[in-house]
Amino acid sequence: MIEYQEDVSLFHLKSRDFSYILQVLDEGYVVHRYFGKKIKRFSPDNKITYQDRAFSPNPTSQDRTFSLDTLALEYSSNGLGDFRTATIEVRNAKGTALDLRYQGHRIFKGKKELADLPASFGSEDQVETLEVDLYDQLTDVTVTLSYSLFEETNFLARSALIQTGQQPIQLEKALSLTLDLPHKDFTIHSLTGRYGYEKEWTQTPLTQGKYSVASIRGASSHSRTPFIALADPATTEDQGDIYSAQLVYSGNFTAFAETTAIHTSRLGIGINDEHFSWQLEAHSQFQTPEALLTFTDQGFTGLTRDNQSFARQHIARGKWAQKERPILINNWEATYFHFTEDKILELAQSAKEAGIELFVLDDGWFGKRNSDTCSLGDWVENRDKLPSGLAGLGKKINDLGLDFGLWFEPEMVSEDSDLYRAHPDWAIQISGRGHTYSREQLVLDLSKQEVCDYLIEAVSTVLESAPISYVKWDMNRNITNIPEHQANHEKHEFYHRYILGLYRVLEELNRRFPDILFESCAGGGGRNDLGMLYYMPQAWASDNTDAIGRLSIQEGTGLIFPAISVGSHVSAVPNHQTGRVTPLATRGNVAMLGNLGYELDLHALPERKLDEIAQQVETYKSIRRTVQFGDYYRLKKTDNTYAYTYVNDDKSQVVFTFVKVLSQPEAPLIQVKLKGLDAEARYYSKELGASFYGDELMNIGITIPPVQKDYYSVQYIFHKQ
Ligand code: GLA
Repeated sequence: MIEYQEDVSLFHLKSRDFSYILQVLDEGYVVHRYFGKKIKRFSPDNKITYQDRAFSPNPTSQDRTFSLDTLALEYSSNGLGDFRTATIEVRNAKGTALDLRYQGHRIFKGKKELADLPASFGSEDQVETLEVDLYDQLTDVTVTLSYSLFEETNFLARSALIQTGQQPIQLEKALSLTLDLPHKDFTIHSLTGRYGYEKEWTQTPLTQGKYSVASIRGASSHSRTPFIALADPATTEDQGDIYSAQLVYSGNFTAFAETTAIHTSRLGIGINDEHFSWQLEAHSQFQTPEALLTFTDQGFTGLTRDNQSFARQHIARGKWAQKERPILINNWEATYFHFTEDKILELAQSAKEAGIELFVLDDGWFGKRNSDTCSLGDWVENRDKLPSGLAGLGKKINDLGLDFGLWFEPEMVSEDSDLYRAHPDWAIQISGRGHTYSREQLVLDLSKQEVCDYLIEAVSTVLESAPISYVKWDMNRNITNIPEHQANHEKHEFYHRYILGLYRVLEELNRRFPDILFESCAGGGGRNDLGMLYYMPQAWASDNTDAIGRLSIQEGTGLIFPAISVGSHVSAVPNHQTGRVTPLATRGNVAMLGNLGYELDLHALPERKLDEIAQQVETYKSIRRTVQFGDYYRLKKTDNTYAYTYVNDDKSQVVFTFVKVLSQPEAPLIQVKLKGLDAEARYYSKELGASFYGDELMNIGITIPPVQKDYYSVQYIFHKQ
């Protein structure tokens, strides 16, 4: 609910658990008054404490206590007194500063779409919006701040629309938000990592200075995620204040937290201003991506619950958003590039016997692609490998009783491809300079409309040619060699224009193929962000398919994304990325923490292993709704153990999973307390052959069998009796 107190020009945005308060000062500055645990009222007597501070400049000579340097500002530019990291920077004949003052506001039910960008959405019952116009007279620039409050799901979506008047400007920076907080005693949480080791949950104290996570790779990247949280250092799983910000965007971004000389802090998130600038002609506009803010005082469990349910309800779209996802078999690690139609059908047949529902044909089906050195761009079936073509193969797979899915990497081109030979200028390049390669491939220039148009048609032609119900959309390198082929002043527009081009392609394909389930991938989680989730409701979290390696990846991913979106496969041993040999049971138990799939040669497995897989598939079908739509809890964790519960809506089914990494001599008994159960109910587990009461399981816990084996795991499924 958004309340406006006209007498004091104060806006009180009341969410389920937080209040967010801003105020227009007499001078016209829009300042931040409070963000934190929900309060009922904000008294008019609650005034800002002003203080004269040396070296903090004043807009008037009459009042030395009033300085932009010390005020909590909702959207700020440098140059007129605020020395903190700016939210916006422009350049024109009048300099670089903006003096942004309140001009007007509107409050309305619902939420507008963001032009050409992914963003959260909701009905008029779910979301209410405040728009505040700020205006700088000298440059004739208007900045409209948008605050959309999702009261029930406890989120505030913020973005800014920058509009020029009579004069053109060069936009040098336009973050989606900065947020000024009254102290600096925080631990910063972010998700870092690398290829094969994505979304490592990283914690670091906010010390004097600035901490940032950012990408200039043209994608959000394996090593950084557009997410940052500031937590009270004493925060635990169940208690503690956390402020969190995410960006609904897939390109270059920055997210930072900094301290000030007077021990306040500023958090910011938006498009990375490195390699960014945007020419705005007179009477034109620039829309920033959307940032999502939330606050909880219920520790990381509260943050996780809010993040997951928001992504599931207000970011993921389309037919598949609220549907249980098919269990798939992917042939990549089973065959790599070396398959025949017969081999594929053999694999599909075994998958069907195991109860698997969808067959995904990965890389290698097109052009003359028998290795990763050629053919990207030639999206034409390889009849040598697939004599019946995609249509014939798709039909045969459908006849076996499986759906058929296909891998693409549309944004790329190989030098050795018909596409490159026909359109060498479509690859991103600097004229006069050689290419820079990565996996021997080049990136298509999606900032060009003709390239995007071609992509839409090329992908559509394939999707229309065969019974394809699923697409894995891959992207296996980052962008280099940024061209300066356009007018000189536009050179820093490239990265954002690329992402806008990509979004246009994805929007159109979503529109044309509403029944297709899209899964995004970028060599695993190289672009696993909310921007992509808007177009593709699931993502391949990592190329690392090792059960133990995936534990931390899935745990980090789970901090912001729901299990339904996390593609998670059982693969062969020794694992292809780590060489580790883990039991099939553990590989299954870990993959069942996400959206289950298989990626190994089922046909080559001994009968009993295939039976075990069939059993896993059957189990997953019985818990799929709970895992994909239920509440997720991280349980007591040590360096050597991981434990989780998933609990469905009415708490009638509870899936408990425990994994111990290494066996230890004379190890202490491990007792794990479950979470999220109905305290009064009695629960039965078939695996244990025993019943317990909810309060027993939550307060006493269960004792893990003292098994002397590495990579040991259990999965107990409890049903309310
Ligand atoms: C990327 C993906 C893999 C696989 C290969 C195919 O690495 O992450 O899952 O699809 O490409 O080349």
